[in-house]
Amino acid sequence: MTNIHLNKILILDFGSQYTQLIARRVREIGVYCELLPYDIGDDFIKDFNPKGIILSGGPDAVTLDNSAKAPNIVFELGVPVLGICYGMQTMATQLGGQAISADKHEYGFAQIKCEDNQCYLLSELRDDTHNITKHALLDVWMSHGIKVSALPEGFKLIASTDNCAIAGFADEKKHYYGLQFHPEVTHTKQGKHILERFVVGICRCEKKWTTDNIIANLIQNLKKQIGKSNVLLGLSGGVDSSVVAALLHQAIGAQLTCVFVDNGLLRLNEGDEVMQTFANNMGVKVIRANAQKKFYDALSNEDKPEAKRKIIGHAFIEVFEQEARKLDNIKFLAQGTIYPDVIESAGAVSGKAKVIKSHHNVGGLPKELKFKLVEPLKELFKDEVRQIGVKLGIPAHILYRHPFPGPGLGVRILGQVKQEYAGILRLADAIFIQELYNHNLYNKVNQAFSVFLPIKSVGVTGDERRYDYVIALRAVETIDFMTARWARLPYDFLDFVSNRIINEIPRISRVVYDVSGKPPATIEWE
Ligand code: XMP
Repeated sequence: MTNIHLNKILILDFGSQYTQLIARRVREIGVYCELLPYDIGDDFIKDFNPKGIILSGGPDAVTLDNSAKAPNIVFELGVPVLGICYGMQTMATQLGGQAISADKHEYGFAQIKCEDNQCYLLSELRDDTHNITKHALLDVWMSHGIKVSALPEGFKLIASTDNCAIAGFADEKKHYYGLQFHPEVTHTKQGKHILERFVVGICRCEKKWTTDNIIANLIQNLKKQIGKSNVLLGLSGGVDSSVVAALLHQAIGAQLTCVFVDNGLLRLNEGDEVMQTFANNMGVKVIRANAQKKFYDALSNEDKPEAKRKIIGHAFIEVFEQEARKLDNIKFLAQGTIYPDVIESAGAVSGKAKVIKSHHNVGGLPKELKFKLVEPLKELFKDEVRQIGVKLGIPAHILYRHPFPGPGLGVRILGQVKQEYAGILRLADAIFIQELYNHNLYNKVNQAFSVFLPIKSVGVTGDERRYDYVIALRAVETIDFMTARWARLPYDFLDFVSNRIINEIPRISRVVYDVSGKPPATIEWE
């Protein structure tokens, strides 16, 4: 069995919004890496035994006395070190160089100039293959207000821009490198090559972190951890729990039982699709708990958003527990925790969407059920989870679906939730999403959905005036879901969708499109 963790890179996080991207790029290259707070402690770093260390960017200013510093051990281990943005600046000042506030803050595109043969890290890279001069001009992404002004001893200049004389430096004997720009961001066209040169060429990591190797390892570890015991999984139909179900099914077959709670707040035909995919096609043991009435009853007198969320969370735990108690000999509870959840709960990274998963985590189960946890995805990023899902035969439309909140339509029906409203909203949303697919727009936006507004607005059909409900359409473009821009969907498309919704679904008089960004608005309407 390939040891997928044999060569590892340690990324010390100084709090940049791009730090997770560094980790994702390194993993895409085929090398395992972990992301830890920059002040994790010397012993930990030593025990981690990295083949190389990357110091991330961050919001601090090295010109201040008490700015965040890389632990000295980083420069004592004798392994290659790459400092990016803040990481470069702190490396420079910690090793005897200098940094100053830049007269001009640089944010966005820049072009670095680097000479061939000056340094392996950047040598002979070209954005434009027709550029055959001995130096390259590479498009890069910059984001800084401080710059390195004097090189530490033993270092040489390897890249510069018009505004930043020292945009890259290296001490090739010690294998220390600094880049003022962000190679992890896709706007830096050669970024992945640069990281690959560092990780593979300089740190000499072998590419063992591949989807096939990861799956083989996960299955072997699951078999070892679980033995002959039985495992319970709350299957929501989302990406993470779906991939856990498929993995466990491969690892332990009939020892896995999934519980799928239909809370009446799912999308059109979602419950049937989950059963079709997992129970019928893949042969996974899935119990469908039809609890729609319980949820509607529990929600019947509540119109406040937070209270609705709590009710839905509690009802979920109750149903799940009821089903769990019917099963014999369950020793393990499987969960779809992924690496960003782990990083966020450890507080290692700032600026990342805090996706609220509390009720999906079934963390509120009574202690006497005494389940041990199985969390096979906890080392993986979402894109890695999806790739595993593809290999395990989960349909692409499940794996590449937009995010759907745990409380489902409960947060998309404003005010009191009623079965009638859920029925109307489901139909409207199905039309919107179907047409996004039909017009090749679904994958151009990061999240799209419909919202039910329980107000009556006037409409006219034939000669008759009618007072019916309003549907709001929402579509956003976002990277991290912390900020979002409303998607500029074509007017003709919106016109088409609006006509279909009003004509095909009774009780809707009006369709509106949400043109609010986040902030100040949020993505969901609640
Ligand atoms: P907001 O509305 O806060 O949403 O801008 C940001 C992202 O989080 C999703 N969201 C949730 N996801 N459980 C989830 O798993 C929840 O309770 C929940 N609430 C919001 C939302 O759909 C958007 O993608």
